[in-house]
Amino acid sequence: MNYTDQFTDILYEQLKQQVTKSQISSMIEQPKYAHMGDIAFPCFELAKIYRQSPQQIALELANNMQSLSLFEKVEAINGYVNVFLNKVNISSQVLEEIISQQANYGNVELSGQEVITIDFSSPNIAKPFSMGHLRSTVIGNSLALIAEKCGYKPVRINHLGDWGTQFGKLITAYHLWGDEQLVRKNPIKELFTLYIRFHEEAEKNEELNEQGRQWFKKLEDGDEEALQLWKWFRDESIKEFSKIYELLHVPFDSYHGEAFYNDKMEKVVELLTEQNLLQESEGAQVVPLDGQLPPCLIKKKDGTTLYATRDIAAAIYRQQTYQVAKSIYVVGNEQTLHFQQLFNVIEKMGYEWHEGLTHVPFGMILKDGKKMSTRKGKVVLLEDVLHDAIELATNNIQDKNPSLAFKEEVARQVGVGAVIFHDLKNYRLNDIEFSLEEMLKFEGETGPYVQYTHARASSILHKAAYHDNDATLTCVDELSWSIIKSLMEFPHVIQQAFDRNDPSKIAKYVLQLSKAFNKYYGAVRILKNDNQQQVRLKLVQAVQIVLNEGLHLLGIEAPSEM
Ligand code: ARG
Repeated sequence: MNYTDQFTDILYEQLKQQVTKSQISSMIEQPKYAHMGDIAFPCFELAKIYRQSPQQIALELANNMQSLSLFEKVEAINGYVNVFLNKVNISSQVLEEIISQQANYGNVELSGQEVITIDFSSPNIAKPFSMGHLRSTVIGNSLALIAEKCGYKPVRINHLGDWGTQFGKLITAYHLWGDEQLVRKNPIKELFTLYIRFHEEAEKNEELNEQGRQWFKKLEDGDEEALQLWKWFRDESIKEFSKIYELLHVPFDSYHGEAFYNDKMEKVVELLTEQNLLQESEGAQVVPLDGQLPPCLIKKKDGTTLYATRDIAAAIYRQQTYQVAKSIYVVGNEQTLHFQQLFNVIEKMGYEWHEGLTHVPFGMILKDGKKMSTRKGKVVLLEDVLHDAIELATNNIQDKNPSLAFKEEVARQVGVGAVIFHDLKNYRLNDIEFSLEEMLKFEGETGPYVQYTHARASSILHKAAYHDNDATLTCVDELSWSIIKSLMEFPHVIQQAFDRNDPSKIAKYVLQLSKAFNKYYGAVRILKNDNQQQVRLKLVQAVQIVLNEGLHLLGIEAPSEM
């Protein structure tokens, strides 16, 4: 617990619980000048409640707190309680806590293990893995790790886009212009080329669209040939996506995509019919929704079902399979309306668990201020981007540390870490500008900077052949204190990141801790052989542990040397 929380608890006790903790914590102030202490508590509002003068209240509170080990001195001045913290006690406490708990520092223990499903990444078969899917992948992965840290069991679901009219088009195109060998060699690129060609030619030749519709109808009716091709496209695409997931070290518990719900759709339509929720509209079946929301399209004129229908089936299936406490969908903000409609339909169906459904939207990745497009053949292949990042990282390492062991592995960790960090340091709803050079800088607000700081701390510990000891702290200087304050904040930051589905809280936090540590490193001779050396090393170890865990929660590895 950090000292502000502890101070809040103490005041809460003292005030005989007549004011709430959150009222107290909103009253607590940071004094402007050091001579006024480290925290201050103004008693003016309390004066009205207790019908006493502010100074009288301050005096009484200060008297009662004098002897607590958290404080060095407590004064009552002009209606304020000014508190001078006992930095030595607090620091020792924090360091002990981190060093004894190691990677578990900041863990939340819950009584049961509740499930949170996280629907993320979810690329479309036979199409390139887009920048949007990259964002979903890194944000979703981090949210899963954060949920785990907060005591939940995350279930990672890749809701593949593996069904829909586009497969009719693709099969048509493959029949007309496809080459098996080429597809085998380079599936996604080749299939995508076919798909683009289909659209170009269909503009001139309407007949093609009709053929596409027919092939999709065959596919839905279980035609052998159509199914075989579909399965082949799907398998090859997953193989390619898996290469990306391996590079990123992102695991999934389920690859149930849209096609998985084919045999669960009728049931959805049945349920909606039973509950009188369906209405006909221009030959199609829709559910009219509340407020300003346009109706949710369930079944097209030709009887085919839709993206939304599949999502209804998926939500129900997940609830039944995992007894979900919370369901998160990490999908770009252009689908906000879709999720509003989905959640509203679920609510109308009378499912109480609709309250746990959460869309976690995010903005776009821009290149020179414009959306990075995968349409019209201008494909930026994500795998290429990651390989470029790894190559740049290799060059950096070659310059800085040519004799490094396991260079290749470290270059992967740094290259990939740079891409992930660049994404997660921004609040997810902001659009972000894509720049490999920016991401890979060892200075500034980058992944490599944090990784480098972590490696620096590790190497100091290594050099000193540091091991646990019971050296005790006797004084705390300003630079160490700013590190300690930051270390103490970690559990609170994790909680915030969890509550708001916002990994950028953690990214910003590791940057701040890195800065505090590097400032310290620049000013203090850590390895100087005096009686505080072991204490300084403890501080270094605590920083190493927390940076490692912070990076881990972002899905970034932390090499001990780079
Ligand atoms: N495949 C979709 C797309 O690329 C994303 C799917 C998101 N998940 C969901 N349950 N709708 O746009």
